[in-house]
Amino acid sequence: MPTTVNTTRAHTVIARCLRLASFTEETGSIRRTFLSPPMRACHQEIARWIEPLGVTIRIDAAGNLRGLYPAAQPNAPRLLIGSHLDTVPNAGAYDGVLGVVLAVALLEQLQGRRLPFGIEAVGFSEEEGVRFGTPFIGSRALVGRLDRELLDTKDMQGRSVRGAIEAFGLNLEEIPEAKLEDGTLGYIEFHMEQGPVLEKMNQPLAAVEAIAGQSRREFRFIGRANHAGTTPMNLRHDAIAAAAEWILKVERMAQDIPGLVATVGQIEATPGAANVIAAEARLSLDVRHGSDQIRKDAVDNLIRLAQEIAVRRGLSARQSSVLKQSTVAMDPFFMAEIEKAIVATGCKPYRMMSGAGHDAMILAEKIPTAMIFLRTPGGISHDPAESVTGEDIEKAIECGLHLLDQLAASPQFHKRTIRA
Ligand code: GLV
Ligand code: MN
Ligand code: MN
Repeated sequence: MPTTVNTTRAHTVIARCLRLASFTEETGSIRRTFLSPPMRACHQEIARWIEPLGVTIRIDAAGNLRGLYPAAQPNAPRLLIGSHLDTVPNAGAYDGVLGVVLAVALLEQLQGRRLPFGIEAVGFSEEEGVRFGTPFIGSRALVGRLDRELLDTKDMQGRSVRGAIEAFGLNLEEIPEAKLEDGTLGYIEFHMEQGPVLEKMNQPLAAVEAIAGQSRREFRFIGRANHAGTTPMNLRHDAIAAAAEWILKVERMAQDIPGLVATVGQIEATPGAANVIAAEARLSLDVRHGSDQIRKDAVDNLIRLAQEIAVRRGLSARQSSVLKQSTVAMDPFFMAEIEKAIVATGCKPYRMMSGAGHDAMILAEKIPTAMIFLRTPGGISHDPAESVTGEDIEKAIECGLHLLDQLAASPQFHKRTIRA
């Protein structure tokens, strides 16, 4: 929780993030997955804040909230500002939500002033990959990549993305209308850093220079169930033991390769009884590095190690790809403008790599994209202890307003004829 709040507007941002945190699937903790019932309440609450500003709101067919703050002239191009509204299980109140609430704060702070471009505030429906195991469902709709394979993916209850969209009352036929408008000027995302770097550097804000690529895969070790009391140790084909051996190899590999992070965050064993040797273990693998080649080599080696362990123990190992996302560079023009805006707030410029994945890496496929990170106390995120300070929120608002003014006055920005 934030310790200091130094202005009304920073206080409002924090209060709104906490208010959105109350829309959850689980009493006592924050969990808001793709098109779950609390997502609707979340949309309604944000609409209540921005409709009075003259913003036109729609929920697109992928469940993204899209609110257009008009430009000074009709038919002017638009700049997108936003982040995601879904959360991990047992989440904090700020990951994603902070970026959406800051977009709302910037629209409010314009106090009715219209710019040469419209501003579309976006609250993405899905970034974390919790419900369907595949992240970025929301932002993929904007770049035209909400394909049939993804729409057919099923959640743990057997409901497909397609089914979830229909159950929420949205129209699958309208997915093409979720795509970026031609001439969209770019996408800016405010997000907490979710790591310890800015705190260590004593920096409230940073411009992100690139977002690390990531691979996600599902692994299965398939052994044989048998009686835990009667099967001698040398006659077992224990799927959990094989998985455990492999998990330690995953950890060791990431410890040995500078910059590599690798995580087994999920494990599920069947049949799942204390007195039965596990027949099967399913595991997730998440591997990230700024170099796509190093990430790819690490994943190939981990697949090979899983096979070796399985063969030695008389099991089989299977795996499939869930996500392959290359490292994505942010737009150099935006980065330079963000640094100028950071300096205008009285802070030192700072650039850093993002280890976390963001909707920005998807939008960057089509339009100039950039991110602004806010310092994360204790470097803690994806946890209820996640926090941001009022001072840093105040700096972020100031930085955002400087950035909008700079862009409004920049002939170079308006000359960029990007087609989405
Ligand atoms: C998103 O939070 C990620 O997994 O990086
Ligand atoms: Mn997250
Ligand atoms: Mn996030």
